[in-house]
Amino acid sequence: MSESKIVKLVDESTNRSSELPLLSGTLGPACIDIGTLYKDTGHFTYDPGYGSTASTKSAITYIDGDKGVLLYRGYPIEQLAEKSTFLETSYLLLNGELPTKDQFSKFEHDITHHTMMHESLKDFFKGFHHDAHPMAMLAASVASLSAFYHDDIDVDDADDRKLAAIRLIAKMPTIAAACYRYSIGWPFRYPRNNLEYVDRFLHMMFEVPSEPLELSPVAAKALDLLFILHADHEQNASTSTVRLVGSTGANPYASIAAGITALWGPAHGGANEAVLEMLQEIGSADKVETAVKRAKDKNDNFRLMGFGHRVYKNFDPRAKIIREMTHKVLGELGVNDPLLEVAMKLEEAALKDDYFVERKLYPNVDFYSGIIYKALGIPTEMFTVMFAIARTAGWIAHWIEQHETPGARIGRPRQIYTGADVRDYVAADKR
Ligand code: ACO
Repeated sequence: MSESKIVKLVDESTNRSSELPLLSGTLGPACIDIGTLYKDTGHFTYDPGYGSTASTKSAITYIDGDKGVLLYRGYPIEQLAEKSTFLETSYLLLNGELPTKDQFSKFEHDITHHTMMHESLKDFFKGFHHDAHPMAMLAASVASLSAFYHDDIDVDDADDRKLAAIRLIAKMPTIAAACYRYSIGWPFRYPRNNLEYVDRFLHMMFEVPSEPLELSPVAAKALDLLFILHADHEQNASTSTVRLVGSTGANPYASIAAGITALWGPAHGGANEAVLEMLQEIGSADKVETAVKRAKDKNDNFRLMGFGHRVYKNFDPRAKIIREMTHKVLGELGVNDPLLEVAMKLEEAALKDDYFVERKLYPNVDFYSGIIYKALGIPTEMFTVMFAIARTAGWIAHWIEQHETPGARIGRPRQIYTGADVRDYVAADKR
């Protein structure tokens, strides 16, 4: 990181000024460091939605939204998608480098040996109504890990932080599968440690006591790839939530549970569930035109779910990979899903429509992922849970980075107050 020019900001009404350094990272636009602005001028900055604000320095993930570039620790997402695995990518996000064979074996061993949930956590599920949303159960269960492991964790201890990361990445699929099985009244499955990460998850999801489960290599490969693509995305809403909660010194399980709840919203990770519901609602390719019309109508709050992104003003590179993969996976699994035709028609119609072109609204990562999840037999309410399993790697990498950064402070934004001016209390009989 380098500090170059100074930007001088003068408040002409008071003649107070501030000299603000310009900070440059390895890639991306330089940022004006406004840390001394309030002290120098008495002003705050105002940026709702943080469209022009960098909240932190980070060495984990880089996005160039204009060019459609996504790098994890410098490696292009396309290369990781083709050559890596989710577990290797998780190691990379956490440690900054791709593992050697020995490092990977140790990491895989550690993950594999922390996959079980505490038996008491199973009882916790009984408190949920059978039709509770799996994201609600996931958030509550992950928060409850604080109750099982909180006392063991010193957030200032590097080994403890690493152990928390291993536990979270290892247990997330076990908890996620339990959420699903509870909702359909199936007995929980213990993790089978002779299976690889994604196979183990699919086994915990779909194995029934009455018959053996044939695991499909196509399904496992597709899910592993989706996990790689969802593993991190710099300072998005849920990761920023994890960091904000983490900045208070809260334990990692509480911090990640907060990330899960932030992810759930339809403007963020909940979009994958919303996309499938939208495609089902549209129903057939001939209704696409009406849907596009509705999405453009400012008096209608219908939006094309899976379209648009705060950062990407070009094709989301993850969407490009998933789009290609959707055709391949459906072909290999022999699934003929009419929703794919609706999705393709919708994409085609939006990409040539002035409204979407002018606003640079392209399909995002969630546009096609639901069709693949559906082909793998994963129910719609579980889509955002899938996202959460993958994003746990990124969240915890950010939480660790935050704790490794010297001089970190609690996150505490300010506001423009628009309420009443100071006034005197009025007794009840005088109001
Ligand atoms: N359909 C129709 N119009 C849209 C859409 C959409 N999906 N997305 C944005 N627009 C329009 C807005 O109405 C606005 O139009 P205006 O300039 O005439 O007012 C303009 O495009 C800019 O949109 P904003 O909402 O200001 O963009 P912002 O960066 O705040 O929001 C977001 C980005 C939340 C992703 C938005 O595009 C959206 O709601 N998309 C649908 C939900 C979705 O797919 N979310 C997943 C994002 S990826 C992820 O989190 C994993």
